[in-house]
Amino acid sequence: MKFMLKTTIMLIYCTLAVLAKGGGGGKGGGGGGGGGSSRSGGSSGSSSGGSSNGARTGSTGQGVAGTGSTPKSVSSKGGSGGFGGAPPTYYASTRSSYSNYPPAYSGGYSPASRYGYTGFYNPSLLYFAILPPFLFYGYNSAYHRYNQNNGYYYAPQLTEQGSNTNNAVINGTANSGKDDNYHYSFNISTNNQYPMADHAFFSSSDHNARNADFVYRLQFSHVIEFDDVNQNGFYDANEPIFSVTSLQNLAWQPFQVTNLTVPNNATQSYLQTGTTANVAYNNTGGSTTAAAGNPNLTIRITYRTSNLQLNNTAPIIMQPNSLQYDFGVEGFPTAVASAHPNARLGVVQLLSTKTAAPVNFDVNMTTPLDVANQIKTNLTYGLSIGDYTQGRSEYQPTVNISDASSGMTAAWTTGIDPATLAGAPAYSSADWIWGSLAPSARVNKLLLITLPGYITGGNTTATGSGTLNTTFSGFGFLDTDVMNALANDGGLSSFGIASQSRVTNLILVWSIALYFAL
Ligand SMILES: *[C@@H]1O[C@H](CO)[C@@H](O)[C@H](O)[C@H]1NC(C)=O
Ligand SMILES: *[C@@H]1O[C@H](CO)[C@@H](O)[C@H](O)[C@H]1NC(C)=O
Ligand SMILES: *[C@@H]1O[C@H](CO)[C@@H](O)[C@H](O)[C@H]1NC(C)=O
Ligand SMILES: *[C@@H]1O[C@H](CO)[C@@H](O)[C@H](O)[C@H]1NC(C)=O
Ligand SMILES: *[C@@H]1O[C@H](CO)[C@@H](O)[C@H](O)[C@H]1NC(C)=O
Ligand SMILES: *[C@@H]1O[C@H](CO)[C@@H](O)[C@H](O)[C@H]1NC(C)=O
Ligand SMILES: *[C@@H]1O[C@H](CO)[C@@H](O)[C@H](O)[C@H]1NC(C)=O
Ligand SMILES: *[C@@H]1O[C@H](CO)[C@@H](O)[C@H](O)[C@H]1NC(C)=O
Ligand SMILES: *[C@@H]1O[C@H](CO)[C@@H](O)[C@H](O)[C@H]1NC(C)=O
Ligand SMILES: *[C@@H]1O[C@H](CO)[C@@H](O)[C@H](O)[C@H]1NC(C)=O
Ligand SMILES: *[C@@H]1O[C@H](CO)[C@@H](O)[C@H](O)[C@H]1NC(C)=O
Ligand SMILES: *[C@@H]1O[C@H](CO)[C@@H](O)[C@H](O)[C@H]1NC(C)=O
Repeated sequence: MKFMLKTTIMLIYCTLAVLAKGGGGGKGGGGGGGGGSSRSGGSSGSSSGGSSNGARTGSTGQGVAGTGSTPKSVSSKGGSGGFGGAPPTYYASTRSSYSNYPPAYSGGYSPASRYGYTGFYNPSLLYFAILPPFLFYGYNSAYHRYNQNNGYYYAPQLTEQGSNTNNAVINGTANSGKDDNYHYSFNISTNNQYPMADHAFFSSSDHNARNADFVYRLQFSHVIEFDDVNQNGFYDANEPIFSVTSLQNLAWQPFQVTNLTVPNNATQSYLQTGTTANVAYNNTGGSTTAAAGNPNLTIRITYRTSNLQLNNTAPIIMQPNSLQYDFGVEGFPTAVASAHPNARLGVVQLLSTKTAAPVNFDVNMTTPLDVANQIKTNLTYGLSIGDYTQGRSEYQPTVNISDASSGMTAAWTTGIDPATLAGAPAYSSADWIWGSLAPSARVNKLLLITLPGYITGGNTTATGSGTLNTTFSGFGFLDTDVMNALANDGGLSSFGIASQSRVTNLILVWSIALYFAL
């Protein structure tokens, strides 16, 4: 009986989901979130959903809502699924505190106006599902809202500042006048000890909004050669280190931010910037003297972003709401690679995010090899940041990602640990992204990204005999759909959804809630 009921409800759900999708033809919705029958309070507690602004106004940092069915603010955006496990995070209302919104723009996308709704976008349809990290089915399946082929995307306006300095900021700002009201900042810098970028989301489109509601930093700190003795592709505790070259306080070139046109489509553009620095290779003898057989090598970092999905422009597909980068080493000596068949070259990357935000790796040391290989058939893979995968740090599948945050530091050179590296850059309590959150109070993960193309014998085919060039690409993504939906609506008037869609939507939510309640 119960089974029958569940099946019936699931069928109703599926039928409605199909109806709601209309002529869209998008990819699958990624399934409902939650999925846990162990959850309590399935259909109750709806009053703790997204509508009670008052309770959270004035709170700093992140507020937390109770468990319950899909909150109104989420369901009205087309989100689906109950919240299993931990309750959703609600962002503090910078939207109501900072209400000097830029003019609303709700027109369609055209070559003359690069932002606004486009294609078949309708906020009442099921374009995304709120997924807890453990249910993340890969970046590409979660990202169909922006696929140009089926017309689904929302493109925020991009602005930049700080060209020709060591600190460039690129913002994406959305205020449709309906229900998208936020901005994000990519703060790209080399002026604070290490090259890094902060990826910050603010729940108001007002640029005066202070303290990001969600943020993570990707900081490049070292280039390391190690011996992958057991050949598992990861750095394991106590595996020997051959060289440690620090990227701290190098003489980085200033960022020049350029607006580039896609070669084969003059109506598409993206912003690009980058920097390079020379650094002396530092072998385990601790010698940094270039003359003593330790040549200078060049580090080259290129950043790109666009409010379009661009294929064939960068080594990986560029996606809106993300900061793509290439990290390259040029002129790296091949002496170690030639002498040690299992030597690997890795970039140490520090990931920092707000207190208590979980960081989940798609692949870790305990992932069976066949499963890992399956995951690496995706265009990119990496890690989820936040309870509902608000952020993703993605990499080409040709790299391996070791979690070197703990238990491994003993074998590392002193100082290459998350606390030291996070604490090195200066911070002030007036910081408009992190606020007063001290580095020691953040979640800090140390990643070692092994570079492909580092092979025994090196690449001696070109001019720099005895050295090699290699590079990898990745990007940091902010899931603005999810975060905008989870933001307090700050007293905005009700969303402009056609009543019929709203009814469909409500039935959907009810059926989901019922399903999980039974
Ligand atoms: C880049 O240039 C294009 C074409 O000139 C323009 O439409 C777009 O707004 C520019 N982008 C930025 C971020 O300035
Ligand atoms: C970018 O956003 C920040 C606040 O997040 C603001 O201080 C800055 O002026 C903005 N810059 C541009 C160019 O939009
Ligand atoms: C961006 O980050 C850099 C490096 O940490 C910092 O110096 C700068 O103050 C930040 N920008 C803003 C506007 O806070
Ligand atoms: C990544 O790991 C796999 C084995 O798991 C290995 O075959 C491959 O060479 C490694 N790649 C790099 C760049 O370390
Ligand atoms: C060029 O880009 C525009 C806007 O993204 C798109 O509508 C058009 O189909 C593209 N043209 C070609 C030839 O790819
Ligand atoms: C050079 O390597 C040694 C370890 O062999 C390390 O202690 C030192 O910090 C490194 N120096 C730089 C500038 O990377
Ligand atoms: C290595 O780089 C340093 C700093 O950029 C420079 O002073 C030095 O001349 C370079 N050495 C060689 C051998 O190129
Ligand atoms: C990228 O573009 C190429 C050529 O247009 C196409 O074959 C390929 O499927 C595209 N890749 C993705 C992931 O869209
Ligand atoms: C590896 O990932 C699995 C599944 O996500 C998780 O259960 C396990 O705790 C992780 N192991 C480590 C060492 O992080
Ligand atoms: C992509 O990654 C997911 C897990 O993150 C995995 O289940 C899936 O099989 C991978 N491959 C493809 C082609 O989707
Ligand atoms: C060597 O470098 C050249 C030019 O960068 C590249 O085309 C080639 O694939 C590389 N070979 C290997 C074995 O990495
Ligand atoms: C490495 O890159 C540099 C700068 O782009 C180039 O001059 C050199 O020829 C490259 N070396 C190899 C081995 O490809």
